[in-house]
Amino acid sequence: MKIRNANVFITGANRGLGLAFAREVLARGARKVYAGARDPSKLTLPGVEAIRLDVNRAEDVAAAASRCTDVTLLINNAGIAAVGGFLSVDSIESARAQLETNFFGPLRLSQAFAPVLGANGGGAILNVLSVASWINAPMLAMYGASKSAAWALTNGLRHELRAQGTQVLGMHVGFVDTDLTRGIDLPKSSPELIVRRTLDALEAGAEEVLADERARQLKQGLSAEPGVYLLDPSADAPVAPAVSAAAG
Ligand SMILES: NC(=O)c1ccc[n+]([C@@H]2O[C@H](COP(=O)([O-])OP(=O)(O)OC[C@H]3O[C@@H](n4cnc5c(N)ncnc54)[C@H](OP(=O)(O)O)[C@@H]3O)[C@@H](O)[C@H]2O)c1
Repeated sequence: MKIRNANVFITGANRGLGLAFAREVLARGARKVYAGARDPSKLTLPGVEAIRLDVNRAEDVAAAASRCTDVTLLINNAGIAAVGGFLSVDSIESARAQLETNFFGPLRLSQAFAPVLGANGGGAILNVLSVASWINAPMLAMYGASKSAAWALTNGLRHELRAQGTQVLGMHVGFVDTDLTRGIDLPKSSPELIVRRTLDALEAGAEEVLADERARQLKQGLSAEPGVYLLDPSADAPVAPAVSAAAG
């Protein structure tokens, strides 16, 4: 999928990775950029068309799909993260909220835009996932569950949309320097770098992009013995030694 002359719809485009996606697709020659935001007054980037969109509101999503009938690339970027483990007192409410935005949101958008993409020749869906799709830690347990669900969604959509020629790309990454990770004192990638790598992969026809070193190492670690998802996340050993060696 080439970005030049594409018509791109981005959820959560007012800040963080969504804003970086909007800037980069404009720079790569997108014809039209629909910038979804819960509060469109927060959209200040010139050159985009503001769309009021809360991914949890079915009526917003339906209105967006009926208005933006020329979309060829849907970027499911909007997401939330809340700290806490599965055994914390509010874990069920927290899990519901994060599944709503991080799983049902992209599902709702994908359902609404799949016919639009099909009518426009196939196009592509890019789902912003995380290394938390693969490993789970008490700090972000329900977030991880929601991203695992979104990963399954991405893999399933790819099969369901193959017949209409829609490319489905899942992007995995570790920490990125946005509001979402404010207060987390760990190495982070710049949103601009992650977005460039992701769009390079999209333009190369990829179905999965491991956008930083942590994603690359953890992906390898899934098949290591023991698998990375079995390791104690509180220990200072984010990847198995064998995986570190293999990753160089
Ligand atoms: N930062 C990281 O380390 C990291 C790593 C891996 C994956 N990700 C994923 O990357 C994506 C973007 O995150 P970010 O780091 O850019 O976070 P961010 O700076 O906190 O931005 C999140 C964006 O999502 C929007 N959003 C949240 N709930 C929404 C809803 N119900 N409807 C519509 N928009 C909604 C926010 O809008 P408001 O301004 O209205 O709140 C904001 O535009 C998320 O899916 C996140 O899970 C982030």
